[in-house]
Amino acid sequence: MNATATAHPNIALVKYWGKRDEELILPHQSSLSVTLGPLQVTTTVEFTGKKGLDQIELNGKVAQGAERKRVEEALKLVRLEGGKKLGAAVMISRGDFPAAAGLASSAAGFAALAVAARAAAGFKRDTKAESILARRGSGSASRSIEGGFVRWNRGKRADGRDSFGEQLFGQAHWPDLRLLVGMVSREEKEVKSRDGMRSTVETSPYYPAWAKDAEREAKEIVRFVKRRDLEAVGEIAERNAWRMHASAMGANPPLCYLKPATLAVIEACRQVRQQGVGVWFTLDAGPNPVLLTTAKDEARAAAIVREHGATEVVHCVPGGDAQVIEQHLF
Ligand code: PMV
Repeated sequence: MNATATAHPNIALVKYWGKRDEELILPHQSSLSVTLGPLQVTTTVEFTGKKGLDQIELNGKVAQGAERKRVEEALKLVRLEGGKKLGAAVMISRGDFPAAAGLASSAAGFAALAVAARAAAGFKRDTKAESILARRGSGSASRSIEGGFVRWNRGKRADGRDSFGEQLFGQAHWPDLRLLVGMVSREEKEVKSRDGMRSTVETSPYYPAWAKDAEREAKEIVRFVKRRDLEAVGEIAERNAWRMHASAMGANPPLCYLKPATLAVIEACRQVRQQGVGVWFTLDAGPNPVLLTTAKDEARAAAIVREHGATEVVHCVPGGDAQVIEQHLF
């Protein structure tokens, strides 16, 4: 009763920011992301068939606190469906990129956990069920079950059964696309996404406008992704990132995730675009910009982030689906 799965993180081009249900992790609006290869998390889960506490190890350390609780919750949901006979779980998870990269390792982590745990419990692959389970750990994880370009549709149901990630275009749709994560800061962010979005929903007068507009953008961007139109995709991604951050800045107390180096990179993108370099940015709830470009301009884009304070640039391409593999971690 053990299984191992791999999953990639993802970067949202139209962001998820704000829950309508905190427990089920249901968003106020739909979002759309691209899966990031080659970065990946590998997770092995074994159901021991014995009573006891789950053993959970993340990146070589025994999981503690809120992190542990979220993994336990996900394992509990699998036991609810698969039966108590499954017993306590042993889970080991390893990522090949630093958690502090500003890229939420939780997206790849909960996606790999959902696929591995369901497989270990004996279920056949079912991307919808996996995405719903991953969503319960971390919203953005619902978009890391399938590769390529994935939309997390907000859904309407109170039980969340219609709120899951769905692949719109596969990994091979846009092989020329490059996503460069510029590490301008390695500090742990002061306000985690979970708390930041809650505070924005509760206190920002701009929140309703954000949610309405993002829902529209999550639809609008699809035709440009379909056409592989980097300029149109880049414009929407930038505007959407600004609007997410604007809604957060409108919170009380105000939330600003940007650092001076973030703004320097953003400004440099604007300037080099005028010289014909095709590069746009997006930003999660942190200071590290992710640049959108193509193979032709990749070196120039990497140079821009380095020149403006990035200590490291992580080069990514659209990644594939989460997979069950035979190489177990224990
Ligand atoms: O899934 P969480 O709780 O890590 O939230 C992710 C929020 C953003 O990264 C800011 C946006 C997104 O859609 O990934």
